[in-house]
Amino acid sequence: MSSTERRDLGRALCIITGASRGFGRTIAREMSRLVKPRSVLVLVARSADDLRSLQAELAESEAGRAGLVVECVVADLGQTEGLENVVRTSKESFSEDIDHILLVNNAASLGDVSRYAKSFTDMAEVNSYLSLNVSSSLCLTARVLQAFPQRPGLRRTVINISSLCALQPFCSWVLYCTGKAAREMMFRVLAQEEPDLRVLNYSPGPLDTDMQMVARSKTADPNIRKSFSDMFAQGQLLTCEESCAKLMKLLLDDNYTSGAHIDICDL
Ligand SMILES: NC(=O)c1ccc[n+]([C@@H]2O[C@H](COP(=O)([O-])OP(=O)(O)OC[C@H]3O[C@@H](n4cnc5c(N)ncnc54)[C@H](OP(=O)(O)O)[C@@H]3O)[C@@H](O)[C@H]2O)c1
Repeated sequence: MSSTERRDLGRALCIITGASRGFGRTIAREMSRLVKPRSVLVLVARSADDLRSLQAELAESEAGRAGLVVECVVADLGQTEGLENVVRTSKESFSEDIDHILLVNNAASLGDVSRYAKSFTDMAEVNSYLSLNVSSSLCLTARVLQAFPQRPGLRRTVINISSLCALQPFCSWVLYCTGKAAREMMFRVLAQEEPDLRVLNYSPGPLDTDMQMVARSKTADPNIRKSFSDMFAQGQLLTCEESCAKLMKLLLDDNYTSGAHIDICDL
């Protein structure tokens, strides 16, 4: 079968961080429809109730009735213990007939956008931001790659949910832009080092989520705040479903260059 004919993601183990709400929750729903029966979804976030409600919803769905296994890991990814719990659950859920491991590094935070770069004097504050937004995605990815090493018949795909902010400076968004730029470079290096891996940096566009609401209400820079408010007022934000559909098509077609930055606007 040529790669462009793929209509499913295989018998997959999908680890999705930040699955409790927003884009990650939509990714979990869409992936559940595209994996073969007896695949596994590992949903990660701090909000237990939101993860459990998604788990229940997926259990009731057609995929759930066809044998999809959904595991919740309630974890703070800014802490090493959180990463350990994700890897432990993923290993326990793995079975030999799984032929595709997908890790979606989606969880992120905006950081304090109500201040400008010159106010960030506190190393502990910056380190804490980078711990979740940069260190955890590198260390979780490395742990997953070690837990599921390359072997014949096993595809491995790592997705980084990126942003225009990985490429472009936004005033008063120093933490977010720094984190997204660092994260993107990390995955580009990984793609160079590991040619058997499929690595995708996907920039989902402006999405109507909690993060956007904080962006348009808290951003210190008046021009940036206004541009987000205008996008919201004029109905220009994308739904998570619209953006996720493009991401799923990229994964199914599977002909992107590994390590590439693909923005929804380019599709
Ligand atoms: N929204 C946009 O316009 C936009 C644009 C470009 C890129 N993105 C990117 O898209 C991704 C999803 O964004 P979103 O808009 O869906 O954000 P969101 O609504 O704020 O959701 C963020 C998710 O990350 C999880 N999370 C945050 N801190 C965590 C922690 N310490 N440990 C574990 N999980 C944590 C949250 O769950 P808990 O709070 O339950 O832990 C939540 O599920 C992010 O990478 C974001 O940077 C968003």
